[in-house]
Amino acid sequence: MLGYAAHQHGYRVAVLTGGDNDSPAGAVAEVEIAAGFDDEDAVKRLVAESDVITWEFENVDAGIADAATNAGLEVRPSGRIIATAQDRRAEKEALTAAGVAVAPWRSAESESELVSAVNELGLPVIAKAARFGYDGKGQARIERRAEIADVWRRLGAQRLVVESVVAFERELSVIVARSHSGEVVDHGVMENRHVDHILDSTVTPARLNPERLNEATAIAARIASEWGLVGVLCVEMFDAAHGLVVNEVAPRPHNSGHCTIEASPTSQFEQQLRAVVGMPLGDGRCRPAAMVQLLGDLFLEGCPDWSPVFAQSGVHLHLYGKHEARRGRKMGHLTAVGDDPDVLLDRVTALRQALTVR
Ligand SMILES: Nc1ncnc2c1ncn2[C@@H]1O[C@H](COP(=O)(O)OP(=O)(O)O)[C@@H](O)[C@H]1O
Ligand SMILES: [Mg+2]
Repeated sequence: MLGYAAHQHGYRVAVLTGGDNDSPAGAVAEVEIAAGFDDEDAVKRLVAESDVITWEFENVDAGIADAATNAGLEVRPSGRIIATAQDRRAEKEALTAAGVAVAPWRSAESESELVSAVNELGLPVIAKAARFGYDGKGQARIERRAEIADVWRRLGAQRLVVESVVAFERELSVIVARSHSGEVVDHGVMENRHVDHILDSTVTPARLNPERLNEATAIAARIASEWGLVGVLCVEMFDAAHGLVVNEVAPRPHNSGHCTIEASPTSQFEQQLRAVVGMPLGDGRCRPAAMVQLLGDLFLEGCPDWSPVFAQSGVHLHLYGKHEARRGRKMGHLTAVGDDPDVLLDRVTALRQALTVR
């Protein structure tokens, strides 16, 4: 999607895939380097092909940023921000330093530290692997003390971050872009529903009062500015009775911002391109929109018949071109744009539910 935005503006794209041949990004880019993120020769080739480096995934080897910086390239967002977002402990410290609220948390590197964390925080808690988690992978909720040993056995091979469970009304995200001149533009506030820890649907604007909406966008802008970000940042938050609590961040475009492709004059991908190549940012305001994710579960028996989707104007299908469908794997999404967020969400939800294999 960044590739489409880049081509539209006359840029060429090289992609390092992490290993896959014939990857979805490679199908769009002029140059596909099918190699691991830790492959030094591949990184050298990427750097030689490029004028500027950006990311659409944060669990990459930090060496890429160093190699690019040493070769005199701009790396946007910087390797320092990528490293922060890779590690939940570093992330929470950097969020606190930026002056935003996070859930009470402790670090645990042994079973006895996990016990102490539970003692200090009180139950329930969520234990999360400090590194390489996504879509709820590497996480466990602890409701009872008797579960601690088992959770440590399952997750404790690496450092954990243990968090109090936040009793939230809803989950939100704000996607914000910041240019190298310090200009900051958001896309408004997304309201997100997760199923089995995977983003299932997004509706915008979030169904919140105007003060809370402003508070949410201000939090995202603050993090972007305090961290000196150049690029796009998604800030996931919990809307709790006592205020907004930041859950985690991703220094790249995010699923919850997919609706910006149709809902905004400047999508999150175009905004990333603009920030990264040094153009001024665009107008990020969104019309009301709703998005539902299409997971591999829908494709296990074959490709769904999309004709009900095509029959509706204002509904847009996106398929990512992943070759293999697996349960829980994000294969595409549907977006509806219009006037009433509730109506739009009902519409895409019903459409998805009615999909059947041809
Ligand atoms: N401290 C918490 N309190 C309540 N729910 C949480 C907490 N942390 C995570 N969750 C739930 O689990 C989901 C996934 O957790 P998250 O930290 O965002 O990990 P991931 O990297 O897998 O997205 C969140 O979107 C939220 O629904
Ligand atoms: Mg998350």
